[in-house]
Amino acid sequence: MTNKKILIEVRNLKQYFSINNHLGEKSFVKAVDDVTFNIYKGETVGLVGESGSGKTTLGRSILRIYEPTSGQIKFDGVDITNFNRKKLLPYRKKMQYIFQDPYASLNPRMTVSDIIGEPIDIHNLASSKKERADKIRELMSLVGLNTEHASRYAHEFSGGQRQRIGIARAIAVEPEFIVCDEPVSALDVSIRAQIINTLEEMQDRLKLTYLFISHDLGVVRHTCDRVGVMYLGHLVELVETEELYKNPLHPYTQALLTAIPEPDPDSAKKRNRIILSGEIPSPVNPPSGCTFRTRCPYAKDICAKKEPHLTDYGNGHFASCHFAGKLKEISK
Ligand SMILES: Nc1ncnc2c1ncn2[C@@H]1O[C@H](COP(=O)(O)OP(=O)(O)OP(=O)(O)O)[C@@H](O)[C@H]1O
Ligand SMILES: [Mg+2]
Repeated sequence: MTNKKILIEVRNLKQYFSINNHLGEKSFVKAVDDVTFNIYKGETVGLVGESGSGKTTLGRSILRIYEPTSGQIKFDGVDITNFNRKKLLPYRKKMQYIFQDPYASLNPRMTVSDIIGEPIDIHNLASSKKERADKIRELMSLVGLNTEHASRYAHEFSGGQRQRIGIARAIAVEPEFIVCDEPVSALDVSIRAQIINTLEEMQDRLKLTYLFISHDLGVVRHTCDRVGVMYLGHLVELVETEELYKNPLHPYTQALLTAIPEPDPDSAKKRNRIILSGEIPSPVNPPSGCTFRTRCPYAKDICAKKEPHLTDYGNGHFASCHFAGKLKEISK
């Protein structure tokens, strides 16, 4: 991308959830642990990683749905980390969230026009009933819904159509940034591409910036400009999409890619094959040093002692591994 301008800046973000164990003792789930990265205007950054790695928590923390434990979040240069509700309201409008499950996230007792109209009302975006109705119709047709269905209830729609309602609700407030949290995972495989196309079309038309959370490395490859890989609350690799698939530097990324078929035989040959063993450790009590070391086939003494940090290995290819770029040599 040329002429890159930063929209979202995340610095040393920590999101710890306090929990009580069965003895009533307090401990912390380190859901997001010291994450630092930027999102540039107009780009789509993918976020991948196993279940429980902290993708949703990171997305929600950026939107300030949660109160961050520590660190900093800037939107277009403005530090919003400690903004109260009132000061956050204009940023709530600039930043939106699209949920994974369109069945759970839409109130079935609300009509489409209630659902899309709600954010219009909250942010006072229509000055008359007619303007409000016109806006709702316009949004419905923009996302590919039949405008005659405005008074139907959410439960009357299929999954794909419900996700279109969710998209219309998110873009109703003319946001600049949207966190799409597994927007197609709950949908039928046959309609996933259509919803992805709608999201991409909205991005082009409305100049949107996306954080795109997904389990599906195939979808990410198709949709994202850059991809971040999360493991146990840490961002372990961040790089332009094609480079991630061609030249993954972190052993965890290599393991994730081992699990998916590689259409390009040259890339496939160059890749290290890593089969992950064991379960993801608990984010309450993560391993010392590098949190991936307990499942890493390359782990050495230093990995238990020293925590690696996300480092630029050239051309904005970030990885956090003591042996990034040297894995082939140390495995010999
Ligand atoms: N409100 C909360 N209170 C306590 N723990 C939480 C809370 N929300 C998330 N967690 C924990 O934080 C960790 C990260 O969860 P998160 O939902 O962010 O992961 P994820 O990568 O989005 O997973 P998935 O792919 O399953 O959606 C998990 O261990 C989860 O159990
Ligand atoms: Mg999630």
